[in-house]
Amino acid sequence: MPAPALTFVDRTYVLHRNRRLIYFGGTDYHRMSSHPEVTDAMCAAARDHGISCTGSRVTTGNHPLHEALEAKLAAFFRTEAALVFASGYLAAMVLLPAIVDEFELLLLDETAHPCLSDAARMLNKPVVTYAHNDPADLRKQLRRHLLAGKMPLIVTDGVFAARGDLPPLAEYAAIAEASGGKILLDDCHAMGVLGDSGLGSWEMAGIKREMIYQTGTLSKAFGVFGGVITGSKELIRRVEEKSMVFIGSTGLPLPLAAAGVASLEWLTRHREVIGMLQQRALATKQRLREAGLNLESTPVPIIAFGMADPESAGRMSQALLDAGIYPSLINYPGTPPGGLFRFALSSAHTDEQLALLVEVIDFAFS
Ligand SMILES: Cc1ncc(COP(=O)(O)O)c(C=O)c1O
Repeated sequence: MPAPALTFVDRTYVLHRNRRLIYFGGTDYHRMSSHPEVTDAMCAAARDHGISCTGSRVTTGNHPLHEALEAKLAAFFRTEAALVFASGYLAAMVLLPAIVDEFELLLLDETAHPCLSDAARMLNKPVVTYAHNDPADLRKQLRRHLLAGKMPLIVTDGVFAARGDLPPLAEYAAIAEASGGKILLDDCHAMGVLGDSGLGSWEMAGIKREMIYQTGTLSKAFGVFGGVITGSKELIRRVEEKSMVFIGSTGLPLPLAAAGVASLEWLTRHREVIGMLQQRALATKQRLREAGLNLESTPVPIIAFGMADPESAGRMSQALLDAGIYPSLINYPGTPPGGLFRFALSSAHTDEQLALLVEVIDFAFS
């Protein structure tokens, strides 16, 4: 069932039951969804071009705004090319038909985002799961299932968004390289967030670009909407030819394409906010670790902790509400009995807002 409806105000707040509360929900990591340059571009495009091309991009629905957005993405991610389409959920489904012939076996993290398991299981190829973030089990599954001389595709989230944990990509890259395989990364929560230049989880892990396929979304760091694939011109050409999801669906709405261009232009001019967010994430987690929370010391701007029972979750929610913070408690399959508090930091939050979050959590746990 959907959670209570929220109205966003002033970039880092929501209106909840007529109260203005600091918001750490969602994953609008740079608050681009309400940036005036982005919203202005969106409104202007709706007026100038209408909402939609109402056709597939391979028939009559291609528009200069789509191509401008892809050129901006390729420049931002320093790849030859990029492709945009309806949503990040579809990204692996769009990509896999173009690369499936290169691999004999897909190895999927057991907790991978459902978009990855859905996409992997659409293919006529064996899919084996390995234990979450466990290279030893990955090696074991490879030995058990891969025929000599055949190549594997290791499929994983670049950041596991529920808890903000990272896969051991350097080890995966070594495993992939040894068997001639590659890694498919769903980098929805890492593009524009992790790595020195915001290129993603692979940049942060220091692995070679050639070892990965990268998919993502415009709906998180870029604050807009739409799925993304980055890569070589040859890869994108193959995807355009082979992906029935791409061929058979209407291109991204034009106001969204224009908003994406504006968001990328702003983030390209202000790339320093990416490093700033990483520093704030590290510092905020450090303060919470000192307060006794078991958090990994990584620059992922997600702070998550499970609650043992609904009563303690209720007390934490009340403490947050009393301090003027929206209690972003997630309750869905796989979360602990009391739910999972998840706070996504953004580069637009102030030091005071972050300090208040630490203070409330610290107090609640002491
Ligand atoms: C890891 C991951 N992959 C894919 C998606 C889906 O992306 P989109 O919302 O653009 O469809 C999400 C969440 O939105 C996500 O967290």
